[in-house]
Amino acid sequence: MSWAPRIVVFQCQYCLYSEVDQHWMDTQLPQNVKLIKVPCTARISPLFVLNAVQGGADGILISGCKPEKCHFKEGNLGARRQLDEFRHFLSYLGMEQNRLRFAWIDHDELGRIQRELADLEEQVRAVGPARRLVTRAPAAGGATHE
Ligand code: FES
Repeated sequence: MSWAPRIVVFQCQYCLYSEVDQHWMDTQLPQNVKLIKVPCTARISPLFVLNAVQGGADGILISGCKPEKCHFKEGNLGARRQLDEFRHFLSYLGMEQNRLRFAWIDHDELGRIQRELADLEEQVRAVGPARRLVTRAPAAGGATHE
């Protein structure tokens, strides 16, 4: 059995895929892909991405409105800047930067989300499973400190 990378998709709820694609996202996503909807990509804290990685994600796709169509003016551009910086931090932690991808998608781009997911999955397969990040080192002897 071949390894299937675990992918987490953060999708802006206003990012309008074609009706067919949104239906596919909502009901037919492959089991290795988890969808998390957010009010705007600007609401994606880098900590959400870190939590996804700590939870076992091998790749992250952030999908939002086209730059000129963000419902919160330039929320998507700010998110892109912030998360691009965060990508460097992930690299510092030993993760390949191409595990994180952005996609601005509009309703007239039928099939685009499937292509983005396939491309990301291919990139992630090429680098293999993500390094698992330890959330908290156990104390000596298994005791916890309070
Ligand atoms: Fe969609 Fe801001 S409202 S990215």
